[in-house]
Amino acid sequence: MCGIVGYIGRRQAQPVLFNCLSKLEYRGYDSCGIALLGDSIQVCKDEVRVKALEKALPPIAGLAGIGHTRWATHGEPSRANAHPHCDCTGRIAVVHNGVISNFQRLKDKLISTGHVFASETDTEVLPHLIESYYQGDLEEAVERSLADIEGSYAIIAVVAGEAKLVVARKDSPLIIGIGDRENFVASDVPAILDYTSRVVYLEDGDIALVTADGVRVRENGARIDRAEHLIQWSVADAQKSGYEHFMLKEIHEQPRVIRDTLREYISADGLAAEVIPSGEGGLENMLIAACGTSYHAALIGKYIIEQLVRVPVKVELASEFNYCGQVPPGSNALVITQSGETADALKTMKKLKEAGCQVLAITNVVGSTASRIADHVIYTRAGPEISVAATKSFISQLVALYWMALPHARVDLRTLDELIMELRQLPARVQEVLDNEAAIREHARRLARFNDVFFIGRGANYPVALEGALKLKEVSYIHAEGYAAGELKHGPFALLGAEAPVVAILASDHTGEAMLTSIKEIRARKSPLIAVVEEGNEAAGEIADSAIIVPRVNQVFSPVINTVALQLLAYYAARERGCPIDFPRNLAKSVTVE
Ligand code: G6P
Repeated sequence: MCGIVGYIGRRQAQPVLFNCLSKLEYRGYDSCGIALLGDSIQVCKDEVRVKALEKALPPIAGLAGIGHTRWATHGEPSRANAHPHCDCTGRIAVVHNGVISNFQRLKDKLISTGHVFASETDTEVLPHLIESYYQGDLEEAVERSLADIEGSYAIIAVVAGEAKLVVARKDSPLIIGIGDRENFVASDVPAILDYTSRVVYLEDGDIALVTADGVRVRENGARIDRAEHLIQWSVADAQKSGYEHFMLKEIHEQPRVIRDTLREYISADGLAAEVIPSGEGGLENMLIAACGTSYHAALIGKYIIEQLVRVPVKVELASEFNYCGQVPPGSNALVITQSGETADALKTMKKLKEAGCQVLAITNVVGSTASRIADHVIYTRAGPEISVAATKSFISQLVALYWMALPHARVDLRTLDELIMELRQLPARVQEVLDNEAAIREHARRLARFNDVFFIGRGANYPVALEGALKLKEVSYIHAEGYAAGELKHGPFALLGAEAPVVAILASDHTGEAMLTSIKEIRARKSPLIAVVEEGNEAAGEIADSAIIVPRVNQVFSPVINTVALQLLAYYAARERGCPIDFPRNLAKSVTVE
């Protein structure tokens, strides 16, 4: 969490820093700040969003500076706790993303030698440490300070009077954007896309000296050349392009995202290329781990693989697995992480590797930490996802899972061809859901007045219910719970009634009958009921108060279609309630702390 940026070059740094920071708010946005570098350092920070700070400040001259947008870990959101943090002299400033686990010990020691602290943050030990080591060479002082630090960090440090940024990373992402007589530093690529597509990914342990004219990277004290990469994402990918919110834009991008992701995987002659050669154990003994929405993709992946390939799959929450999980011998491991930076997911990857597993990662971010830890990577092609609530990245993860499973499917060739054909047609089906937006918006308008909503599904649509509930709660702040339909009567039934609506996903498969029974039981308890039903099954939907009609697809693909409908439901409910949809309170997109 937290986004950091740095700029040095030929432009005025202030507007560049604010522009870059505005692209990183998905990483945290409870406060923000900048420091402009000249003969002295000017720090401006507050407990406000980036736009508000930008508006409040007069132009401050300076061709270099650093910036930060925060997701609080140590110390509440406040002006004092906002970054950048300075040393006692005010001549050294630092922005940091990560957690310094031994900060208290370091802080006590620094206080005992006369340092005065202004915040409750772990970060503030850094400028004080740097000050204690500084003898005219910032790079050396940073290096010595980092040797004292335990934990994770991506940092940028500056000192008044020296036209340079010193940057370093360990277990937190950091990139350098290469420009023409100017250079950029950022937590993530979208921050710098307006200025350059040339990027160097720093590795753990790297320290880099960035000036307007060049970048010098060192690893363990020795000079090292890190390759430059050309980023394929476009500026428009990270802009709202006329949509009111990124979330809506990203929902609408999904037909294209499916197409782009499939293009990666399916060759022109229609055959799915194999990611996991059958000779290496195929999809047997598969263990999938993930967090948040990616965990829901993992749960759907279990259904996809078990249904198509007929081998059992184990799914783990990365955050739990790290403490209690056992790795069954011979496991094939898959970690799904959109950002490739989620701390819990990365820890799981390391644990799996230590247990001797070959780890496959599904991620959306080229060059992310997950992509570098993994033995094999499947990239999804969702493009940058800015809205904190994951939408298009989730759908692209499902596409990747279909593609993984299909070559191993225990079905005859004709069925396989039909499935691949349907997969190719998914973008058109998703577009049909989007074309029904106005009707879904009406459902959302009615749902928005409630405070508690249940989502239920069976089979592969059970995780869809979990995802539908997660989307609704994160963007609209309505308390929502996803349940396997059969479980609702084991407790939640006590809460049903006129004030507790239920959204029921009614698939046209072998779970349909049982779902109808569940719906009748719920109706008898007077809960308002919205059914998500397929075209051709409208009659079943009539048992509900209202129905969202979605296109009919092969049941294997129904999670994609139903999820898109529930994304729109959540979006419009949040809009009806006037919520800050792209940046919900207390959340961050890239959760880089445990
Ligand atoms: C955060 C985001 C979620 C995301 C989860 C896992 O909580 O807000 O949208 O699903 O992290 O992120 P990952 O990048 O590992 O998929």
